Amino acid sequence: VSSDQASTAKGTIRDFHLAYYESEVWRQTFWLGVRVQKCPLDLWIYQEVLFELRPDVIVETGTCAGGSAYYLASLCDAIGSGRIITIDIKPPRRPPQHDRITYLTGSSVDREIAAAVRKSIGPDDSVMVILDSAHSDRHVLEEMRTYGPLVTQGSYLIVEDTNLGDNPVPFVDPGPMGAVQKFLAHDDAFEVDRSREKFLLTFNPSGFLRRVRPDAPER
Ligand SMILES: C[S@@+](CC[C@H](N)C(=O)[O-])C[C@H]1O[C@@H](n2cnc3c(N)ncnc32)[C@H](O)[C@@H]1O
Repeated sequence: VSSDQASTAKGTIRDFHLAYYESEVWRQTFWLGVRVQKCPLDLWIYQEVLFELRPDVIVETGTCAGGSAYYLASLCDAIGSGRIITIDIKPPRRPPQHDRITYLTGSSVDREIAAAVRKSIGPDDSVMVILDSAHSDRHVLEEMRTYGPLVTQGSYLIVEDTNLGDNPVPFVDPGPMGAVQKFLAHDDAFEVDRSREKFLLTFNPSGFLRRVRPDAPER
C-alpha cells in the first residue's frame, strides 16, 4: 500500500467515523430492546475479549439504560461465567433484571462506591474494567487511578469514548484520550492494545489497555 493510499484510507475512516458519530445512531442502538450507547464493532470486540479471557468480574462505570451491562451479562451467559458490577450516579429507570448484574448507585469516584466494588471482588477473581461514565479528562483519570489497580494481569482496562477530543470527534476538553495519555505517562503496567482496533472504526482508539505487568510502579 503506497503512502498516498494509506492516507486516503485514513481520511475515509475519519470521515466515516464523524458521519457515524454525528448521525447519533449510537443513541438508537439496542441490545434485546435496551439502549446501549456503543458502536456494534466495539461490542463485537467485547465479545471476543470476554470469550478469550472469561473474566470473573467486569466493573463498568456509567450504566445509563443498562444496555451495555445487559449485553455483557448475555455474553457471560453464553460463556457460562462472569458477573457485572455497574455504577451510575443516576440509576436507570427500568434496569434490566439479570442475575449476573449488580447495580450500584453513586459516583464512580466516590470512596464508598470504590470500596464496595473492591469488597465484592474475591482474591482469586480475574477482573476487567470498563470506564464509560463522565467523559472529562479529570474524571476519567481519577477513575483510571481508582479502578486500574483492580485489573488483573492479561485483562483490560477499557476507556470508552477516547474518540472525543478531536480523535476525531470534537469535545470540550481533552476527554478520555487526555486521561489515557496522562495515566500511561506514569504507569507502565498497561499497554495500548491496537489489535482491538482491527475493525478500523472504534469509539475507543488507544482505549483498550491491557495489563502487561502485575503492579504499577510507585508514584
Ligand atoms: C455514556 S453513558 C453510559 C453508557 C452505557 N455504558 C452504555 O454503553 O449504554 C454515561 C453515564 O454515566 C453516568 N455518570 C455521569 N457521571 C458519573 C459519575 N461521576 N459516576 C458514575 N456515573 C456517572 C451518567 O449518569 C450516564 O448514565
